[in-house]
Amino acid sequence: MPQQPLKNRNALITGAGKGLGKTFALALAQGGVNLGLVGRNADTLKSVAEEARKHGVTAETFTADISREKDVLDLEKAVASKFQKIHILINNAGINVRKNVTDFTYDEWTSVINTNLVGAFLMCRSFVPRMKDEGYGRIINLTSIMAHVSSTGRGVYSATKHAVAGLTKALALELVDDAITCVAISPGFIATDLTAPLRADPAKNAALMAQTPIKRWGKPEEIAALALYICSDAAAFMTGNDVLIDGGWCAQ
Ligand SMILES: NC(=O)c1ccc[n+]([C@@H]2O[C@H](COP(=O)([O-])OP(=O)(O)OC[C@H]3O[C@@H](n4cnc5c(N)ncnc54)[C@H](OP(=O)(O)O)[C@@H]3O)[C@@H](O)[C@H]2O)c1
Repeated sequence: MPQQPLKNRNALITGAGKGLGKTFALALAQGGVNLGLVGRNADTLKSVAEEARKHGVTAETFTADISREKDVLDLEKAVASKFQKIHILINNAGINVRKNVTDFTYDEWTSVINTNLVGAFLMCRSFVPRMKDEGYGRIINLTSIMAHVSSTGRGVYSATKHAVAGLTKALALELVDDAITCVAISPGFIATDLTAPLRADPAKNAALMAQTPIKRWGKPEEIAALALYICSDAAAFMTGNDVLIDGGWCAQ
């Protein structure tokens, strides 16, 4: 088996400056994959790119807000000037606003929809055409256990993640003849900035751990290992699925 079976493939990852996106980027770089790193913060993207290049791959950074149509259309041109083809697209960028449904302002609600759902759509519309005719393609959408269950204070987040699971299924069916698979990953509670407010609150942290059968936070590397598998040729039969990786949360 080759040491770097994904070598010379090109991946575009949104939200690549930190958290899961950064971990996906470094895991793919270790596998020989060239990277297009997308996010709003140029500095964090640059530092991930520098780390990735130590593995001998090309790493380009692109500053864009994926919730804005114009940003993504500009990104399409900027990426085309650096990469001829995209083989792997990871729609990872996501935000959360935690409050009960009736407490949301319109702007809070739509900001989450526009990032988590509309952003994934815009990225797919721009980059899926550039993934065709290669006989291989992988789209990974980040969903969540909140695409399978829900909880108080998770109304909009849960709604977007259920919607992204639906987008994943439809896109998977539309792309079967192009040998592009589309798979969602549904993590449980993973220790990143997104969940830092929960870890910082001792009562919330204790309640979450009590509810997690494995009794610990997930590690970003555990999610990246699954993403690497989905990108491998061995996972070619997996499409339209939403894979839970949640320490047993949804088994209860
Ligand atoms: N951590 C968890 O427990 C968990 C569980 C289930 C699912 N997920 C999902 O996994 C994904 C990554 O989560 P994470 O925990 O790694 O979160 P994180 O640490 O907060 O990172 C989120 C990333 O998304 C980027 N981002 C946010 N809005 C953006 C926008 N409009 N345009 C471009 N980039 C944007 C952020 O970069 P900038 O701020 O620099 O733009 C950041 O790099 C999300 O979709 C999240 O819903 C996470």
